Amino acid sequence: MKKGVFISVEGPDGSGKSTQIRNIRRFFADREIDIVFTREPGGTAIGERIREIILDKACAEMDNMTEAMLYAAARAQHVAQIIKPALAEGKIVICDRFVDSSIAYQGYGRNLGESVTVINDYAIAGCMPDITFLLKMDPKIGRRRIKQDQQDRLEQEQDEFHLRTFEGYLELEKKYPDRIVGIDATGSIEQIKADIYEKLEEVLKSVAE
Ligand code: ADP
Ligand code: TYD
Repeated sequence: MKKGVFISVEGPDGSGKSTQIRNIRRFFADREIDIVFTREPGGTAIGERIREIILDKACAEMDNMTEAMLYAAARAQHVAQIIKPALAEGKIVICDRFVDSSIAYQGYGRNLGESVTVINDYAIAGCMPDITFLLKMDPKIGRRRIKQDQQDRLEQEQDEFHLRTFEGYLELEKKYPDRIVGIDATGSIEQIKADIYEKLEEVLKSVAE
């Protein structure tokens, strides 16, 4: 039986996800609560090697389904090797992106639809986040924050791809209102941090009960 707490963080590229993840890690460190922090694609030695292939700009010819399956393959390893064992030990797991990224980017962005849910059902094997923070921001604004020479293969996609991806996130938020906590990511770093901390306090309270 799962005992730990699984928290994922999602959002379009440039939405401030890395900045807020630093704040989330600080939230737990300040309270001397141990967490397992991990990320996707990656989180394991095998997953990090898959990440290099997926994000490499030299892999321009990559087929969309190959891309979706590589993300799912990295995720299967991640769930089996890191996430499930940590949750079974009762730990708090914070994950920078998880399956919602695949639904949004590959399902909506790449127009692969339901097939992405199907392949990921095998990858996650019933392991879903308890809480997902979704940083909501127009992807056009987010992408302006990322320097062009620092963009990876996904980030350098056209605006239409990123808009479809964001639509996907909004659909997921509507579909899973109990799990997905939408955060307005257009405000100041401090305001966004305060919104996230408020929810994290609630999560800690519910765990303690
Ligand atoms: P992501 O991980 O989502 O790509 P980052 O956290 O790396 O985003 O942020 C991208 C850029 O935007 C960084 O230069 C960061 O300092 C800046 N940034 C992050 N949050 C905000 C915010 N709320 N307002 C303005 N700039 C921000
Ligand atoms: P990430 O390292 O989170 O990039 P950043 O923090 O700079 O936004 O993610 C790398 C890219 O991979 C990002 O563009 C989103 C994409 N991605 C998918 O398309 N599908 C997935 O399942 C995951 C996990 C990420």
